[in-house]
Amino acid sequence: MSPIPHPELEAWRAEFPILQTRTYLNSCSLGALSRRSMGYLGEYQALWNTMGASAWYELWMGRIGELRGRVAEMWDARENEVALSPSVSGALSSIASSLDYGARPKVVVAELDFPTLVYQWLARHDVEVVRVPSDDGIGVPPERWAEYVDERTAVVATSHVFYGTGYVQDLAPIAKAARDAGALFVVDGYQAVGQIPVRPRAEDCDVYVGGPLKWLLGGPGLAFLWVREERIAELRPSIASWFGARDQFEFRTDLLEFRDDAGRFSMGTPAVPTVYTALGGLEIFREAGQERIYERIRALTADLVGRVEEAGMEMKIADEAHRSGIVMIRHDDAAGAVRRLAERNLVVDHRAGFVRVSPHFYNTAEENQRFVAALREV
Ligand SMILES: Cc1ncc(COP(=O)(O)O)c(C=O)c1O
Repeated sequence: MSPIPHPELEAWRAEFPILQTRTYLNSCSLGALSRRSMGYLGEYQALWNTMGASAWYELWMGRIGELRGRVAEMWDARENEVALSPSVSGALSSIASSLDYGARPKVVVAELDFPTLVYQWLARHDVEVVRVPSDDGIGVPPERWAEYVDERTAVVATSHVFYGTGYVQDLAPIAKAARDAGALFVVDGYQAVGQIPVRPRAEDCDVYVGGPLKWLLGGPGLAFLWVREERIAELRPSIASWFGARDQFEFRTDLLEFRDDAGRFSMGTPAVPTVYTALGGLEIFREAGQERIYERIRALTADLVGRVEEAGMEMKIADEAHRSGIVMIRHDDAAGAVRRLAERNLVVDHRAGFVRVSPHFYNTAEENQRFVAALREV
């Protein structure tokens, strides 16, 4: 097996206590908790204890603004294009509520997308959802999108990385199909952010959603929403919260005027503990370096794939050009295997007949080796 690049990043292992007691290969479900985030969480608790509600105005609102700024920086975006939402579902709901489907009743998604993305439009009676099929159950040929998108299409919505296969979609041809038809291009990047360097504007997206839970090491409770500045004014949500109102602290009940920036898509009081833990995760992501993280994830994935092949086990895996840090290994009793691996201190996951393994930059080839050996035994 070839050496894994950027061995200097292994110094970060000491930052994640779980790596000292477990072989942790499940970052696509939940990134590991860092000492940095624990420190932030301690600060949040101390402020709550000592300041009570005054922490809101004096400090917590500042931290919320800081997090938006950090997300903007990570995505090479403007701060007014970024909003916080309680979940990816919440962020997508707000966007889905902002369109008029009268003249354009069609929304095009991929059959491999995460259900919550598709549900935004299946939940509506005024929308016809069209699913772009996959031939191999792994990815969707990029040129296929244009066949499904037309002048009746309001939205093209799909994943940057498919959660069930790790397949990385080429966004440019999908963006072009959407753009040519005059449709909004919405990307669920939850499985991309934190492993793949993401630039939503350069990738020609209109809306991009991610969050701290998984590869960004920031825990559950928030999502990050980016909306292209030029599209914000035309998107008027029909679900709302006071955080999205222009004059939030005037407490008006006679009138709702939305904020001019992406904050109009905010859905109420954000989870402040997650604001703090997410700041820790984003700092580590920035310090370790987006490019280096991705190179290491790709190498660890190649190493894992090689070992699984050598062990003669079957996988559902994208070709190298479209591969990311999610490896699916077929197993007759995937749930049972994951349980038995957990008994041996190995943490992985399962989805529909497959054991799902997701190495992050803090993992090592030795951990891959330990996992494959244990999987053979269970
Ligand atoms: C690609 C993708 N989108 C969305 C979700 C769910 O997001 P949320 O629970 O924040 O609505 C997941 C969850 O694992 C996911 O993998």
